[in-house]
Amino acid sequence: MLRRIVARFLTSIPILLALAGGAAMVHARTVRYPQTVAWVGKGAEIRSQFPPAPPDGAFSFLVCGDPEDGVAHFVELLRSLPDRSPAFLVIPGDLVKYPTRDRFGFFLAEMERLGWRLPAACALGNSDGGKEEPHLFDDRIGPRVFHFEYAGCLFAFFDNAEQFIGEDQIRPIDELLARERDRFRHVFFVMHKPIVEVKAESAADEAARARGNAPMVDLVRRRHVDYVLCAHLHGYLRIAREGTTHIVTGGGGGALQQAEDGVGYHLLEMSVRADGEVRERMWTTGIDHLAIGTSWTNWHVKILPWVREHGAASAGLEAVLVAAALAPRLLRRRKAAAA
Ligand SMILES: [Fe+2]
Repeated sequence: MLRRIVARFLTSIPILLALAGGAAMVHARTVRYPQTVAWVGKGAEIRSQFPPAPPDGAFSFLVCGDPEDGVAHFVELLRSLPDRSPAFLVIPGDLVKYPTRDRFGFFLAEMERLGWRLPAACALGNSDGGKEEPHLFDDRIGPRVFHFEYAGCLFAFFDNAEQFIGEDQIRPIDELLARERDRFRHVFFVMHKPIVEVKAESAADEAARARGNAPMVDLVRRRHVDYVLCAHLHGYLRIAREGTTHIVTGGGGGALQQAEDGVGYHLLEMSVRADGEVRERMWTTGIDHLAIGTSWTNWHVKILPWVREHGAASAGLEAVLVAAALAPRLLRRRKAAAA
């Protein structure tokens, strides 16, 4: 009996695959992704989407890096928050993995489906750029270098996705802080890659990165930057250095690289109190692997764009699946007819 059930199941697999393939093709032809979302990206313009700054200066914001191809889990993390009081979300890069129009579109669609008009200020990650269509981040999300002020705090976003931060990015903020540093209650820098060494592959690599990051490290020290918020490493690190707290938070959905820290997927809530104190709180779903349902949704983002972008290949693959599903039945019928 059990053998018969197992055999039935095994012979049904090609049919199920053919049906899933057909559904994916239909979905790929009909789904429409947004080009942009009003409350995601737009550089300093995102400031217009924030709630009014509270008179006492107390507010909180979220930080969540590297959603990548785990964007469904990223949304799950945001949905799991007990309230919607954070004023905005900071994403320190890697919104997508392998950037294509559809992957950015899917990310934006998920942000729309979040059910919460959560303004998101985004830095460029190395996975957001790509060589084939490097303008996608600029078109869909916004400029790579910008800054804004909220409740007396400065938030400055930099681009170090592919190169070290150079004078062109350093000088404007240096000049601003030279004039107005005393006016800002806190200064937060946001960029994708950490500027302090977190995972050296070799001594030579570490020395090269230290040399490349030296001008930015110098700016952070000279202008008393409070926090450097970054991602890139899919895990969590908190490093205090020369009066600045460097936070690496890349637990938004991309495959975890630091299982040993036990943190798992997570996001941070940074609360700036009225008295100026900054408190950090981590929110996590307590898992370091994705639930099957979430994994499937994430596979959706991997499979569907491919189906949309490779129409002929996906039609051919579907034809093979249908043939594999029908062939055994046709053969059985033939045999039965011959007998
Ligand atoms: Fe990443």
